[in-house]
Amino acid sequence: MATHIIKHALKTSVAMLAFAFVGTLLLAYVFIATRPPIEASEKEARLALFKQILPEKNYDNDLLSSQVRIAPNALLGNRLPSIANVATFQHKPAGVILEAVAHDGYSGDIKLLIAIRADGSISGVRVLAHKETPGLGDYIDIAHGNWIKLFNDESLQKTPTEKWQVKKDGGQYDYMVGATITPRAVVKAVLKALQYFEMNKQTLFAPSAN
Ligand SMILES: Cc1cc2nc3c(=O)[nH]c(=O)nc-3n(C[C@H](O)[C@H](O)[C@H](O)COP(=O)(O)O)c2cc1C
Repeated sequence: MATHIIKHALKTSVAMLAFAFVGTLLLAYVFIATRPPIEASEKEARLALFKQILPEKNYDNDLLSSQVRIAPNALLGNRLPSIANVATFQHKPAGVILEAVAHDGYSGDIKLLIAIRADGSISGVRVLAHKETPGLGDYIDIAHGNWIKLFNDESLQKTPTEKWQVKKDGGQYDYMVGATITPRAVVKAVLKALQYFEMNKQTLFAPSAN
């Protein structure tokens, strides 16, 4: 009787182990098989955004693979290391695409891509990710309006620091009445990214960096 129970328990254990093993193998297979397509589509989405903010005629290098690692930095708002993409034309600096994060939006982080030309002027800005209220704070997203284009061709040289605010606070940036917190956060983040660029352009464009 006892041997029968032990045999049964052993059989069940072996069956469970086999199921667990096969299940793990299957999961691993799905993970490995789907990773390259997911990475490829993320790469494509990124490149599509790059094209919106830095016209392809402005550079002749492989922008996606020309990367500089950025350590966590208060001006860019990244709490983890991030990547900047450096554009060159005939081996000379053409511009850089920085990632910046605003932590002071209405709800959660607002992730931005900011393309800055070598002369310090903004070529374009896009919102990569946000959780602002639909219909209220989401006009910062190009899908919901052209507000984000207000940054085109702006620079620290062109606009004094005190004007880098929404009009309600005395600056030059339009905003939607009833939704000031979101644009306030974005304007501040873009200004800080320009300041980061100004302080770090030598390193960003150093030949060994990309
Ligand atoms: C449910 C709800 C959602 C809101 N979402 C946003 C938002 O996404 N972005 C925003 O700027 N303000 C949002 N607001 C309004 C802000 O609370 C605030 O009143 C507005 O931005 C004006 O800010 P100010 O008084 O500092 O100028 C929301 C308010 C409520 C009640």
